[in-house]
Amino acid sequence: MDKDGSILTLGIESSCDETSASVVANGREVLSNVISSQIEIHKSFGGVVPEIASRKHVEAVISVIDASLKEAGVSLTDIDNIGVTFGPGLIGALLVGLSAAKTIAYITKKPLIPVHHIEGHISANFIEYKDLKPPFVCLVASGGHSHIVDCRDYGDFRIMGRTRDDAAGEAFDKISRALGLGYPGGPIVDKMAKEGSPNAIKFPKVHFNDSLDFSFSGVKTSVLNYLNNSAAKGEAINTADVCASFQKAVVDILVENLIKAAQLKGYGKICLAGGVAANSALRQAAETAAHNAGIEFYRPSPILCTDNGAMIASAAYFVMNKRKAGNDLNAFANVSIENIDGLFNNIAN
Ligand code: KG4
Ligand code: ZN
Repeated sequence: MDKDGSILTLGIESSCDETSASVVANGREVLSNVISSQIEIHKSFGGVVPEIASRKHVEAVISVIDASLKEAGVSLTDIDNIGVTFGPGLIGALLVGLSAAKTIAYITKKPLIPVHHIEGHISANFIEYKDLKPPFVCLVASGGHSHIVDCRDYGDFRIMGRTRDDAAGEAFDKISRALGLGYPGGPIVDKMAKEGSPNAIKFPKVHFNDSLDFSFSGVKTSVLNYLNNSAAKGEAINTADVCASFQKAVVDILVENLIKAAQLKGYGKICLAGGVAANSALRQAAETAAHNAGIEFYRPSPILCTDNGAMIASAAYFVMNKRKAGNDLNAFANVSIENIDGLFNNIAN
């Protein structure tokens, strides 16, 4: 606790290629958010190499936690609870953050609060908007996930729609690679798309009857076919037009389903979250669609869309009275966001 009586949460995130630690006061105020990204290392491989990721987390985790405490101007004794990502993610990567968090919890005798990675992404909105409260519907789109989540309460989620194949970010990364633009593809395609026309090429959009699920493999294959056909015919392609048209196909589906979900629930509030939520076309399209539908629109700043410890600390704070893990907490490579509290009931102490 700090001198004003604020509850301080240390959040630790290591599920993919960012080692991050943050101190957050009362779940909403970021005192520090230190992010050590491995992107430069994984770039040359065109994607995240799990074993390298684990090793880099091991190297970075202590100094990242130390820097987050120093930047916040607090010591471990001031921290009230420790939030950590327990899954889903790369198992070796998750275990590094988890081991660090467990050690700190053991030494300081402070509660250890396991946080689901997607729950963390959603909570970035609580940091951005100090008055935002559930219920709302949130689109979580990242390199590993594309979910429409019914956020009924803090820590209480139901999935309304999900991708049946590629995640949205994965599709961006694959198209970028096919165009020879580099990794990670999302930010590059986003930038290129600004120079092109979203209506230049018609790529297919997949809709399912009576379902809010997504499919991005069709649009991805269609872009790859377009590139191959153009190459076979010796026709030059307009990279910016391909990026803009592909991006439009993906964004349109995401936004249509998100608005439908909000209307089904009648909450009147939608949020974006996850790495793809940094996409400028998605932010613009969701804002416009929400406005037209009379729905309030929320999205985190780009720095809070990407993986970070602050979103984990925020999520931990809001469930601190109902969720706690013991010393036997393990990491999960795949775990649903539904019924997280049920998962930890039997080990609460
Ligand atoms: O949430 P995140 O940092 O990590 C995961 O949990 O996966 O998301 C990373 C993903 C990558 O696929 C990246 O290409 C995508 O988010 N991304 C974007 C943008 N910025 C990052 N996709 C589209 N447009 C962007 N501006
Ligand atoms: Zn993420």
